[in-house]
Amino acid sequence: MNILFIGDIVGDSGTEKALELIPQLRETYDIQFCVANGENCCSNNGITRNKAERLLDGGVDVITLGNHTFRQKEAHSLLHNNRRVIRPINYPKGTSGSGVYTGVVDGVKVAVVNAMGRIYMDYMDCPFVGMDAVLSKLDAEVILVDFHAEATSEKVSMGWYLDGRVSAVIGTHTHVQTADARILPKGTGYITDAGMTGPYNSCLGVDKEITIERFVKCIPVRFAFADGPAQLNGVVLTVEQGKTTRIQPICVTSQR
Ligand SMILES: [Fe+2]
Ligand SMILES: [Fe+2]
Repeated sequence: MNILFIGDIVGDSGTEKALELIPQLRETYDIQFCVANGENCCSNNGITRNKAERLLDGGVDVITLGNHTFRQKEAHSLLHNNRRVIRPINYPKGTSGSGVYTGVVDGVKVAVVNAMGRIYMDYMDCPFVGMDAVLSKLDAEVILVDFHAEATSEKVSMGWYLDGRVSAVIGTHTHVQTADARILPKGTGYITDAGMTGPYNSCLGVDKEITIERFVKCIPVRFAFADGPAQLNGVVLTVEQGKTTRIQPICVTSQR
């Protein structure tokens, strides 16, 4: 099974770029299943029902989220009503929605699990304990984990922790694609960060003049996403009998 994972979709430009490229990526790589992180797809972060439905209608099978999950109020009803949109498993008990998606693709049971790190992030339950609890109950041949975290050490540790227990651990949140895609010894595909799908001439999707001002003047400034051409970052995985046999980062950029 070939799987396309799309790194954090940022703003309108990232959403439009993903919608433009998904059909051709699905065809080029013979993709059977597509997952995208959509935590930043609204102009002030988070996700709305409209954005989620456009992505799901446009070729994304499951949307994962992260620390911006509840930035938009309607995320609660979206997560409640649409099982193809999931949020990190390690929010406190009683939080809207689920952190796990299960389905069947070409006769194969597939699961997607979203978890969030705790280093330099909001206070959350332990993602390692959370993954143990999920995996003890999960019945799926292919298990894809979106680990949404800031610290590379926490992400790499999660990769090793889950090696042989899931098909792949894909890092998200830091918006810069890392050059460490690999298959761990027990067959788990791994990358520290899949990257970002959004404004190319930006700082992680944000207007670069704003972030420079913040660093130079050391005062708080309101962030806004950048304009201009967009890039798509992600990874393509081939998974056979639950193990990753190929992991290929993809990066589509254009200056125009
Ligand atoms: Fe993000
Ligand atoms: Fe994030």
